[in-house]
Amino acid sequence: MLPLFFLALLAVASAHSVITYPGWRGNNLITNDTFPYGMQWMYPCGGMGTTSNRTYWPTTGGAVAFQPGWFRGHSIAFAYINLGFGTDGPDNGPQNMSNPMVHQFEIIGPTNNPFPGTICLPQVPLPVNATVKAGDLATIQVVELAQHGAALYSCVDIIFAEPGDKRIAEVNETNCFNSTDVGFGDVYTIATKQPTGSGYGQSGAEVAVHRLGWAGFLSLVVGALCVLL
Ligand SMILES: *[C@@H]1O[C@H](CO)[C@@H](O)[C@H](O)[C@H]1NC(C)=O
Ligand SMILES: *[C@@H]1O[C@H](CO)[C@@H](O)[C@H](O)[C@H]1NC(C)=O
Ligand SMILES: *[C@@H]1O[C@H](CO)[C@@H](O)[C@H](O)[C@H]1NC(C)=O
Ligand SMILES: *[C@@H]1O[C@H](CO)[C@@H](O)[C@H](O)[C@H]1NC(C)=O
Ligand SMILES: *[C@@H]1O[C@H](CO)[C@@H](O)[C@H](O)[C@H]1NC(C)=O
Ligand SMILES: *[C@@H]1O[C@H](CO)[C@@H](O)[C@H](O)[C@H]1NC(C)=O
Repeated sequence: MLPLFFLALLAVASAHSVITYPGWRGNNLITNDTFPYGMQWMYPCGGMGTTSNRTYWPTTGGAVAFQPGWFRGHSIAFAYINLGFGTDGPDNGPQNMSNPMVHQFEIIGPTNNPFPGTICLPQVPLPVNATVKAGDLATIQVVELAQHGAALYSCVDIIFAEPGDKRIAEVNETNCFNSTDVGFGDVYTIATKQPTGSGYGQSGAEVAVHRLGWAGFLSLVVGALCVLL
């Protein structure tokens, strides 16, 4: 009885994380007098200070999973995943979060109301030209840009470890999956006017969209739990 109950509690707790893999600084889904607009809107890490309970992540890059649908107004959003190096910055975190790990991509939710669902990129690389070694400290930042241009922030503080290190949490279909109710779009821009004044390009933009086929019984369970709570 007890182990089952404990497992259920764990499932509930993880269903309310925003970065579900490799971890997150803590619950910043908070609106109160200090954060009247909601904590997650605060740059760079949604109002959460640097943590000391860092999580291990591979020196060759690895998985990042998150739940994008916790707020209204996100039936369409842009997502960014960035890395900040070291602890020489404010709050003893990174100096900046200016190192993109992936090209920005679009998230297509089922509705403008909050929705359940997880997305996972199984192999997020290090920022271009970055070299790290086991034991280095860094912070992964997930930014979600809403339709109106404001951004939500969440972070996880990491320690790099060699791939295969036992301290890196296993990545599997439980913690790294794409829910069927969340779609993705590639984001392209086409210059309509060059800054040099050398002429005009083609106008228009192209957004290629494909719905996900990757399903999961678990996404249903997570969804059901979120509705219940
Ligand atoms: C670190 O501790 C906080 C507070 O207990 C918790 O919310 C968070 O999930 C922990 N982070 C990791 C990566 O374990
Ligand atoms: C709002 O929540 C944050 C995070 O838990 C906390 O640090 C802060 O003290 C809270 N503010 C008020 C007025 O309760
Ligand atoms: C960002 O931080 C890195 C150290 O992590 C530093 O080398 C770099 O100059 C900083 N970039 C900017 C634009 O501040
Ligand atoms: C990466 O390094 C190469 C070779 O030094 C350089 O040409 C390129 O501009 C660098 N890219 C970035 C994004 O810093
Ligand atoms: C998936 O990995 C996590 C650790 O990251 C572990 O707790 C969980 O039991 C694994 N699930 C399966 C189905 O292997
Ligand atoms: C989720 O979808 C994205 C975008 O299509 C893809 O890059 C990623 O590999 C998918 N994740 C899994 C676990 O299949």
